[in-house]
Amino acid sequence: MATIILGIETSCDDTAAAVLVDGKLRANVVSQQLEHQTHGGVIPELASRAHVQRIVPVVEAALSKANIDKKDLTAIAYTQGPGLLGSLLVGNAFAKSLSLALDIPLLAVHHMQAHLLVHFIDDDFPTPTFPFLGLTVSGGHTQLVQVDSATSFTVLGETKDDAAGEAFDKTGKMLGLPYPAGPIMDKYAQKGTARFSFGKLSVEGLHFSFSGLKTSVLYFLREQQDNDPKFIENNLFDLCASIQKSIVDILVKKVAKALTETGLKQLVLGGGVSANSGLRKALENTNSKVFLPPLPYTTDNAAMIAMAGFLKFKENDTDVLNSEPKARMSI
Ligand code: KG4
Ligand code: ZN
Repeated sequence: MATIILGIETSCDDTAAAVLVDGKLRANVVSQQLEHQTHGGVIPELASRAHVQRIVPVVEAALSKANIDKKDLTAIAYTQGPGLLGSLLVGNAFAKSLSLALDIPLLAVHHMQAHLLVHFIDDDFPTPTFPFLGLTVSGGHTQLVQVDSATSFTVLGETKDDAAGEAFDKTGKMLGLPYPAGPIMDKYAQKGTARFSFGKLSVEGLHFSFSGLKTSVLYFLREQQDNDPKFIENNLFDLCASIQKSIVDILVKKVAKALTETGLKQLVLGGGVSANSGLRKALENTNSKVFLPPLPYTTDNAAMIAMAGFLKFKENDTDVLNSEPKARMSI
């Protein structure tokens, strides 16, 4: 009999549901909450309210697209954390209720583990083998992780301040770009030249820091705008290319160090920033086989939650119904 997993993701501002049948994706529905764009960042109260409004239609859309009746589901996987507590609560309550009503197992998934495990979906894209080096780069996280199995993750390094996505979003905001600025900055960077350089904080080991870069960009812009009030407008593409190059340089330097230190030969990317064209290109030069997630799996989605849940299900790692969401959760 087929193993059919319904995945539910509500950790931040995307309400998502997916259906996975024996590791193959049958439906992947994401409803992005555009209402945050005008606020320059995610407003937690708005996000949880939008999840409440959307969760039922999004799940129904995924089931109907997959042509699966909910009675045929084997288990339900949901994002337990990390993320915004109010947002996580919606997915947690929904997944629990449905698993109770259908009397099927509940699978509690770690969002960042899922960003890496999405590579195991049975599709045309190459799949890594354990062990591998994982680089998670999203709006809330930046970590280098040694992954020995679907349930064994060891953090080798992480950001001491902002996440890589946050660095894109915050510096993008300084340039007047709407939230999230990462994808727009990527697009503009491809039209510009990285001719400006910014200061960066150096941190020990395999850790990252993006706050020094952020401050350096802020002071640079202020100084330039004193002489030319239209400096940003006149140099937007070059500014985007320069900031993107600085962020990518910080990431690639530590990736190279981690590959040397661990001797791992495969690098697996996960998280929204893994869509970045500059990062994708720069990683081609590292001494490893690089696994980049297909673009629909880079930003938040439920396909990855269903996949991570499927791997847990195979290990009999099911959740008890009194489990609670966790805003902070180590990988
Ligand atoms: O993984 P994700 O969808 O959500 C979190 O778990 O945070 O990542 C969202 C982040 C945002 O900061 C967004 O600006 C960034 O990923 N992002 C990008 C690109 N696409 C998304 N950053 C740079 N270049 C991109 N192409
Ligand atoms: Zn994410």
